Amino acid sequence: MRAIISRQAGDFIRQHCKDANVVCLTGAGISYESGIPLFRGKSGLWEKYDPDVYATMDGLISVFRQRHGDLAKFVFDFYSLLYKARPNPAHTSLAALESAGIVRSVITQNIDNLHQEAGSRAVIELHGNALRIRCLGCRKTFKFEKERSKEMAELLKKNMGSRMKLLKVLSRYFPRCKDCGSRFRIDIVLFGEALSENELSAAYEQLAQCDVLLIVGSSLLVYPAAGLPLYAKDKGAKLIEVNTGISALSDICDYSIMGKAGIVLPEIAGILCR
Ligand code: APR
Ligand code: ZN
Repeated sequence: MRAIISRQAGDFIRQHCKDANVVCLTGAGISYESGIPLFRGKSGLWEKYDPDVYATMDGLISVFRQRHGDLAKFVFDFYSLLYKARPNPAHTSLAALESAGIVRSVITQNIDNLHQEAGSRAVIELHGNALRIRCLGCRKTFKFEKERSKEMAELLKKNMGSRMKLLKVLSRYFPRCKDCGSRFRIDIVLFGEALSENELSAAYEQLAQCDVLLIVGSSLLVYPAAGLPLYAKDKGAKLIEVNTGISALSDICDYSIMGKAGIVLPEIAGILCR
């Protein structure tokens, strides 16, 4: 199969990434080949589900009150995709580049846990993780196993006709905390909510010392994540982008490689790990 990375791009990557400190910023595009939908664009999640309703706390509460069946359907759709998703060669290439000591960390906007499943250990999750639940009071977290999330989604769909039954299912999967009595919720950042200070400061710390920021599969439209490439550039990092289209920051990247992450990243790993 013809390589998708040109000789010129390969030389650039070899010159700047070999024996360098590379940090990777990922978006929904890296998981698209694992069956997780993008957020934007013609088949994006936000085309089907209004983010003002399904990605804000007020919206979710109001849709539960007025159209609880729609909420059950959204949660079922979302977790059914997540349950089936497996890491693709882009995720596993980043894990290999981490093991080779080239990629120091992955900063992800994704909530699908696929970087961890692929073997990446240094993962900074800016928008949380849909396979983890967090106590609203003391912020204690637990894994929300895929099996359990699928079971919940199926029960929600089965009981989508009755708000009382939905409440019963939700209180079973999001119980009260034994330590502080508050309720658990999915540990993701909704629109209008603050990102975790720890994750954000960890991201800035990584970017302050990296030689190259490899940006994979993000439209770079949502802040503060979209501000990270500008910060890295200010600190002297080179920006290399992998995307099937252009992003809001393609014009400030030192190199843009057009192509699917699942094809381009294994080639980058091939160049740097041999
Ligand atoms: N390989 C590489 N890039 C791809 C691929 C692919 N196979 N398929 C799509 N892309 C690119 C698109 O061109 C687009 O630039 O991935 C990007 C996906 O953009 P979005 O759907 O906007 O996703 P993302 O940038 O991660 O969104 C950021 O917005 O809604 C919030 O919280 C949500 O974390 C998300 C944030
Ligand atoms: Zn608690």
